[in-house]
Amino acid sequence: MRMKEEVRQAFSTQMNREYYSAFLYLQMSDWLNQNNWPGSAYWMYVQYKEELAHAQGIFEYLQYRGVEVNIDKIAKPEQQEWESVLAVFESALAHEQQITTWINEVVDIAADAGDKAAVLFLDWYVVEQVEEEANQENNIDNIKAGEGMAGSLRVWDKHMGKREFSGEAIPMPG
Ligand SMILES: [Fe+2]
Ligand SMILES: [Fe+2]
Repeated sequence: MRMKEEVRQAFSTQMNREYYSAFLYLQMSDWLNQNNWPGSAYWMYVQYKEELAHAQGIFEYLQYRGVEVNIDKIAKPEQQEWESVLAVFESALAHEQQITTWINEVVDIAADAGDKAAVLFLDWYVVEQVEEEANQENNIDNIKAGEGMAGSLRVWDKHMGKREFSGEAIPMPG
């Protein structure tokens, strides 16, 4: 079944949003590094790589379906400065919540077009968003728990630096 134009467009747009997410987290990583949160800066760098993988997954899927991919400009991150390490992670959570809304919209577009295969492919992204939001909520909780205790925030930051890139492959059909 050839992918319908509205589904192709929605997938391409979502690919661009994932690349934007990567750039946003790269910007956050830079801010964190400049503001003496090296572990968190590394955590965000790993997050950048995860977002690249999300974008690449969509690209590969569009190629698999044999349709053209819209390669668009990636916008400069809206924000380059944050008030605190807490503010960085609150921004990240808000961004993930927005991404969740968008992915759900893409699912609806694919479902309305009767493209069950595309809906099934997007399942991975729907599940992934639950983890993405939970990760950021967890980071926020940990920062709040350490607020006012410089020592414990340092320990937390060190722990953040131990994140490993899972490099989880997005399941492709065929
Ligand atoms: Fe993503
Ligand atoms: Fe994400």
